[in-house]
Amino acid sequence: MHSYPDARSVVRHLSPDEPVILNRPHAAARGARFFVEKFPGTVMYAVKANPSPDLIRILWDQGVTHFDVASIAEVRLVRELLPEAKLCFMHPVKTASAVREAYFAHGVRTFSLDTHEELAKIVGATSNEAGEAAQDLNLLVRLRVSSEHSELSLASKFGVDLVDAASLLQATRQHCDALGICFHVGSQAMTPFAYVQALERVRAAIADAAVTVDIIDVGGGFPSSYPGMEPPPLEDYFALIHRHFEALPISYSAELWAEPGRALCAEYSSIIVKVEKRRGDELYINDGAYGALFDAAHVEWRFPVNALEDDLTQPLEEFAFYGPTCDDADYMKGPFMLPADIQAGDYIEIGMLGAYGAAMKTRFNGFGAGEVLVVEDEPMASLYRGDRVDPRVSDNVVSLR
Ligand SMILES: Cc1ncc(COP(=O)(O)O)c(C=O)c1O
Repeated sequence: MHSYPDARSVVRHLSPDEPVILNRPHAAARGARFFVEKFPGTVMYAVKANPSPDLIRILWDQGVTHFDVASIAEVRLVRELLPEAKLCFMHPVKTASAVREAYFAHGVRTFSLDTHEELAKIVGATSNEAGEAAQDLNLLVRLRVSSEHSELSLASKFGVDLVDAASLLQATRQHCDALGICFHVGSQAMTPFAYVQALERVRAAIADAAVTVDIIDVGGGFPSSYPGMEPPPLEDYFALIHRHFEALPISYSAELWAEPGRALCAEYSSIIVKVEKRRGDELYINDGAYGALFDAAHVEWRFPVNALEDDLTQPLEEFAFYGPTCDDADYMKGPFMLPADIQAGDYIEIGMLGAYGAAMKTRFNGFGAGEVLVVEDEPMASLYRGDRVDPRVSDNVVSLR
């Protein structure tokens, strides 16, 4: 793939009419190395955050060997790319046929669950033709934990409540080789105490159930850096998780796992969009709620922006965006800080879209086409480079919190 120095050079050379995704392989590789070297356990990439085959290979090359897959399509995708990878099917609600195919065709041995029904489904679907149960399953019971320290809650849909956890852990112990407990503190956890609190709940669950636990999986939730959302260093998260993991009453050989999605890929991608129209402080751009900017529209996520024109001289002002489709809902409140003299025909780079951004593009209304290119410059913010949000961006950011 042809690579460019940065977004401005892409605009100069291509003057693109469609949005262009810009990937930074060096940024993803740096994040993966950081996790592999510093997280005190096994790092499992949550493929849903960005299933790009290029990205998955970059992570593998840097030593990420485990992948959290949430659907049979993700199982097939990663297995085809990486025959040696360890795949863990961490969606607590699966079809029996997906479990069967994952186990028998793709070598998946690790599954999560949060009900007795799902346990029975997994045991049934992995039994052989003679009806004999598999002896080599790693089963992780997903515990419901609080999302209060996170920007996006994952506390409602999945997870067994503490009061029901003991019986599920005891039942699961009967059917597995290794028993684990997993949880998710919610995405973009803004303090490491989210994990401390969750690990305290794990401690209570283990004490209640009085079973031997072999795996503690602290899930995803590790943050990235966005305007108004600048987290503490990831080393602080790792240190507290390690300390509280070590203090749990678990098997002497118990393993610590994590499932980062966002933190491993947010810095990987940005997007160039073109302003098609200006109406006061609203810019009509050519990507939006149904494209890579799903979170900007649906959960009012603030992404960093840079105008790519050299001739804009006025100070920054607050703008909102409309996307290209005919929906009123294709609206991104922002505010996004851009030069006051920006106008139709100008280009903007929107950063930190590697996680749950580039991966969410749809073709709704006929939009969503566009090139993917590689650029060599730094992402607009990085947790792995020693500094945080790009000062060009952070100086002008108004926090929503
Ligand atoms: C089971 C599971 N693991 C990991 C992740 C990744 O989370 P994050 O991107 O917050 O790290 C998710 C995200 O939804 C998830 O559902």
